[in-house]
Amino acid sequence: MSECRKLTLELGERGYDIIIGRGVAGRAGEFLKLDRRVLIVTDDGVPAEYARRAAEFCGAPVIVTVPQGEGSKSIAEFEHLLTVMLRNGFSRRDCVLAVGGGVVGDLAGFAASAYMRGIDFYNIPTTALSDIDSSVGGKTAVNLDGIKNVVGAFYQPRRVLIDPDLLLTLSPRQMASGLAEAVKMAATSDAELFSVFENEDVYDVLDDIIFRSVTIKKRIVEEDEREGGMRKILNFGHTIGHGIEAEEGLLGLYHGECVALGMLPMCSREARGRLLRVLTKLGLPTRYDFDTEKIIEAASHDKKSDGGAVTAVIVDEIGSCRFERLTPDGLRERIASYIEEN
Ligand code: GLY
Repeated sequence: MSECRKLTLELGERGYDIIIGRGVAGRAGEFLKLDRRVLIVTDDGVPAEYARRAAEFCGAPVIVTVPQGEGSKSIAEFEHLLTVMLRNGFSRRDCVLAVGGGVVGDLAGFAASAYMRGIDFYNIPTTALSDIDSSVGGKTAVNLDGIKNVVGAFYQPRRVLIDPDLLLTLSPRQMASGLAEAVKMAATSDAELFSVFENEDVYDVLDDIIFRSVTIKKRIVEEDEREGGMRKILNFGHTIGHGIEAEEGLLGLYHGECVALGMLPMCSREARGRLLRVLTKLGLPTRYDFDTEKIIEAASHDKKSDGGAVTAVIVDEIGSCRFERLTPDGLRERIASYIEEN
């Protein structure tokens, strides 16, 4: 049995352990308190055996499988989960377990936060993106009226089990998309991790990349749980990225691919050169061949914008970052200078 490592996210009574290691999902009964009613939420893109195996550890499991994709982050699915719990006699002593990626974690966590004013929530992420970023930190939400994450809660899980073996069924494209979030953390906060991306075969050191990324995320959340300031660092690449996602979503770009594209204009020339090499190495997109005016408009209408200006995260030197207010003209200039240079 391979070793597992533990990180403790210190948040007083909302603090929790994050257990990271190959095989830990198969030992869920050791780490999670499952001898009760457990609503297991998964999606139809996740191998069904992952949820079935978790159910074996549960006193009274109820599995709900939602359709894969952002469409499941809806009030309708949220209501569905609450109704299933109610009809199955869930009490305040019971719990919710997410077995899936970011969509499942956000939806299941939000249902846990609301049911009877909050019941225990556990997360077993199954995608690189959720391993590296979304499973940790307590952001839960659904979308409303086309606006992402506009209804939700900060609601920390009781424990997170990160098992890199669950990533083996992902396509190379899904893996690369998730790794974009680790590149984001390295670019803003950890120059050493960034050089790992530059110098190593990332799949040989994947467990370390996950561990180090989660360590960064943990530190940031400890400092700024409710995104009053520093946690905004995690939005590096997301201002333009969300604009691209809103515009190009129908063309099927993955979230991490949009983030990769969104990071490039937000760097100095030198940092951008290094970032371009890493993104190319990972097989992530780097070219802007879409309507940038539409992207700017969507980015400026993001819920985080204020009077059309957005707070963007800028990387001048790899491993550090700063905030800058950008109007639509400022965004336009940054994208134009990126396109010109490349
Ligand atoms: N994924 C960004 C955050 O958790 O703040």
